Amino acid sequence: MVCWDGLLYIAVAACAVNVSLQGEHERRLYSDLMANYNPLVRPVFNDSHSLTVHFSFSLMQIMDVDEKNQVLTTNIWLQLYWIDHYLQWNTSDYPGVTNVRFPDSLVWKPDILLYNSADERFDATFHTNVLVNSSGWCSYIPPGIFKSTCYIDVRWFPFDVQRCDLKFGSWTYGGWSLDLQMMDADTTGYIANGEWDLVETPGRRNERFYDCCKEPYPDVTFTVVMRRRTLYYGLNLLIPCVLISTLALLVFLLPADSGEKISLGITVLLSLTVFMLLVAEIMPATSDSVPLIAEYFATTMVIVGLSVIATVLVLQYHHHDPDGGKMPKWTRVVLLNWCAWFLRMKRPGEARVRPACHNKTTRSSLTSVDLNACSSHLANSNMLYIGLRGLESVPYSSSSADAMSPDSGLGCGHGVGRAGEDEALLPRCQSSLVGSVEHGLGQILEELRYIGKRFRDQDEDESLCNEWKFAAAVIDRLCLMAFSLFTILCTIGILMSAPNFVEAISKDYFP
Ligand SMILES: *[C@@H]1O[C@H](CO)[C@@H](O)[C@H](O)[C@H]1NC(C)=O
Ligand SMILES: *[C@@H]1O[C@H](CO)[C@@H](O)[C@H](O)[C@H]1NC(C)=O
Ligand SMILES: *[C@@H]1O[C@H](CO)[C@@H](O)[C@H](O)[C@H]1NC(C)=O
Ligand SMILES: *[C@@H]1O[C@H](CO)[C@@H](O)[C@H](O)[C@H]1NC(C)=O
Repeated sequence: MVCWDGLLYIAVAACAVNVSLQGEHERRLYSDLMANYNPLVRPVFNDSHSLTVHFSFSLMQIMDVDEKNQVLTTNIWLQLYWIDHYLQWNTSDYPGVTNVRFPDSLVWKPDILLYNSADERFDATFHTNVLVNSSGWCSYIPPGIFKSTCYIDVRWFPFDVQRCDLKFGSWTYGGWSLDLQMMDADTTGYIANGEWDLVETPGRRNERFYDCCKEPYPDVTFTVVMRRRTLYYGLNLLIPCVLISTLALLVFLLPADSGEKISLGITVLLSLTVFMLLVAEIMPATSDSVPLIAEYFATTMVIVGLSVIATVLVLQYHHHDPDGGKMPKWTRVVLLNWCAWFLRMKRPGEARVRPACHNKTTRSSLTSVDLNACSSHLANSNMLYIGLRGLESVPYSSSSADAMSPDSGLGCGHGVGRAGEDEALLPRCQSSLVGSVEHGLGQILEELRYIGKRFRDQDEDESLCNEWKFAAAVIDRLCLMAFSLFTILCTIGILMSAPNFVEAISKDYFP
């Protein structure tokens, strides 16, 4: 019973679907078309005529751009159209059959290949069916993941634009038997890539002549023009590098007394080195040309290295041993006069910037105070006349305060000899003292002389030290200016030299 029911069900189903008559026409058409068909024969009415093949491609996706191996991987659907003279039929003879499909091995099809293929199988297409309508119009659309060789120039990495050619042509047919005609590339189904922006896909038809024959060999070359998107590289490479090179400038702002100048410089240099190790993995491994970003990193490295060297010089000036001697004359003139004036730097304790021509050496007022103390001490003692004599013999002592003020520009050069005159004055004081009064005062004067000399020595050392420290500060400021300028110029100059820098910035950062 179960068996009987099943048979009945199948019979009813077949009747209801009613496919038998439709299938009959198509089956008849297939057998009629294939009856005399040879897939090896070029399907033209007259063998001396050429067969026109219309060729186009639709780019679906850019899958990978391998800078190292110079291979572009794309997902492409080829589109080939031609008219097969032997696959035509009269639609009224086969009602309801508007088109038929043939496996690619059963009908003739052009042997169009990607010439610059880098695929293991060379022809990477998936062989689909050929769709034929009643006028013999064949459409063959094989999809495929194509690997093509492409010269990738990384000179402007990451601001680069790559142009990759895809050259298609018939492998065996010449232009006289197979006329390849180009149609425009189709990018309507293109899926955007995270790393590359598709700019355009222009195509052109070339005719090439080989030595063997006079026949032209046509090919169709599509060029995939793509621009690297720079947001990733900007965030991960450029901004950290700009920051690090800015940090290197801070070395010159750090006070020398903090003792951290060198450590900061070395730390910045080290972090840049570590960073460069990371970058080396991202950068295309090629020695063809130096990528823009590598150029920028190398420059930054040099700047940071130079700043460490400059810092050592600054520290050497700052901690200069006062016994190590005075500053050489030209250093003093260049650093303390010209550079300090140029940088508008005030000496510590001075109210305004000295003019560049000012070359008076600093002289402390302590010596004059010392002298005054000496003379006043003498005046207060019983030996009034000695004090008076002492004062007489010191014609400038009363006016010493303003004569020796460091701001008096006219005193240029005169101040240097003062220390010697002081030495000459005191013995005279002493000699007149010894002549008349008790020994005690003489000893006090001796002590005073000693103390005064100590103060003077100390003071001289200190002013020498201060001079070196000021020179260090001037170098620091000079380096800050020079390195800031250099860093800014390098950053702008190198990055802006990329031909499509402005376009990349405007598209990637402000879309
Ligand atoms: C089957 O198709 C033929 C021709 O199209 C039609 O004449 C016939 O009525 C159909 N039969 C059924 C059961 O649909
Ligand atoms: C084929 O074409 C050539 C040139 O066009 C012509 O001379 C020849 O007669 C044609 N043959 C046939 C069979 O039509
Ligand atoms: C198709 O066949 C019909 C009938 O057999 C005929 O009248 C018509 O002319 C044919 N058409 C072509 C293009 O051969
Ligand atoms: C076959 O396809 C081509 C291209 O789409 C078209 O131009 C032609 O009219 C079609 N023929 C028929 C009979 O539909």
